[in-house]
Amino acid sequence: MARAILLVTLALTSTSLVVGVKKPGEVLRHSIARHGYPVELHKVTTSDGYILSLVRIPGRSADKKPVLILHGLLSSSIDWTVQGPDRSLAFIAADEGHDVWLGNVRGNTFSKEHEKLSSKEREYWRFSFHEIGLYDLPAMVDYIRGNTSTDAIHYVAHSQGGAAFLVMASMRPAYNARFASVHLMAPAAYIHHATSPAVEFAARIDELELFAKLTRSYEIGGRGAGSSADLVYTGHKTGLVPTSLVLTNIWYLVGVHDSINRTVLGEILANTPAGCSVYQLLHYGQNYRAKAFQQYDHGAAGNIQRYASRVPPEYPLHNVTAPVVLYYSEGDNFVPPADVEELADQLPNVVHKHQIGARKWNHIDFLYHVAAHRLYRTIVASWRDQTVEEQNVE
Ligand SMILES: *[C@@H]1O[C@H](CO)[C@@H](O)[C@H](O)[C@H]1NC(C)=O
Ligand SMILES: *[C@@H]1O[C@H](CO)[C@@H](O)[C@H](O)[C@H]1NC(C)=O
Ligand SMILES: *[C@@H]1O[C@H](CO)[C@@H](O)[C@H](O)[C@H]1NC(C)=O
Repeated sequence: MARAILLVTLALTSTSLVVGVKKPGEVLRHSIARHGYPVELHKVTTSDGYILSLVRIPGRSADKKPVLILHGLLSSSIDWTVQGPDRSLAFIAADEGHDVWLGNVRGNTFSKEHEKLSSKEREYWRFSFHEIGLYDLPAMVDYIRGNTSTDAIHYVAHSQGGAAFLVMASMRPAYNARFASVHLMAPAAYIHHATSPAVEFAARIDELELFAKLTRSYEIGGRGAGSSADLVYTGHKTGLVPTSLVLTNIWYLVGVHDSINRTVLGEILANTPAGCSVYQLLHYGQNYRAKAFQQYDHGAAGNIQRYASRVPPEYPLHNVTAPVVLYYSEGDNFVPPADVEELADQLPNVVHKHQIGARKWNHIDFLYHVAAHRLYRTIVASWRDQTVEEQNVE
């Protein structure tokens, strides 16, 4: 089936379809405004020069803490809005009065600017979730705290957004105190129990690296007129690519679970996948093979130079002192329960482990399940008793 969709994609390529191109900022604004919510766009520059887009739904209630919500690999802030009011995390948190900030990490459709580099250069793409955790996330947190004069914020993330948090909190431990609560859904730190063909693909490190070098393509799953992702979206929209074919391809990667609203599917394809660097995949592939949550492997010589050790150091998870809630599910073939259990054993301050009841709930159900709003409501409800006053008692 994966082959079938590729054929359709190739067929479409030759028809030189002209896709209406909207500016990234307009798309971000529209994702919120079309549902009747106020929206602000903010640009945040990291200490290494990447310029990131933060989307804000300003809060209505001064005594509610700001919330930062971060997407996973190949995703964007749009995925937190795509199910609409009463169903998406962004709107459920906003309805409760919170100041809601949605992050977009370096390299995705909405965060491709840099002070000096162009996203057409290889140098731009030299990052993995390590840099996202070390630079992107701290820049977002600093900006939000500066703009809102709050001390501690709430954090919710899916998959890679969880890995980025753990990188930051372990390597820059001063940041732990800036979080009132941390909710990690299927955090992609340990992934060696993964069975998804996508992870096996990322684990073919040598071929993947060679492919990137030969084709000079360091961006994976990016958008733009003529990209395969845009062609699938347009093909689906026009009816050329049937919904069942799209779903079969998704299920091949994440496991069969008929949980996505068909109306919403078209909207998901409009912006997801949102692109990433091949080095993100390589770093995941390395960790899958190493059965560890460790820094990027530059080879023995490179590691000695960088880390003074032949093997990359593991992230010092004992430094993660912020209160963490972990969400996971049996049907997740990217981050299975065994990997989350291992993570929980390493973290010093896990306040709660929440296993999803539905047995087939898979990795992307945290975003797209028709009933994901129930999970979001649980998270938002847990903040109800924590007001801004409390955090002054430190
Ligand atoms: C927060 O953002 C708004 C809108 O961009 C800006 O006008 C304001 O100066 C910012 N405030 C702080 C404290 O950074
Ligand atoms: C599917 O999404 C549409 C559009 O957002 C909505 O009107 C409908 O109620 C949803 N259906 C279910 C079963 O959630
Ligand atoms: C974080 O972990 C490293 C490695 O174990 C350790 O050397 C360092 O002291 C820790 N930092 C803090 C602030 O606890």
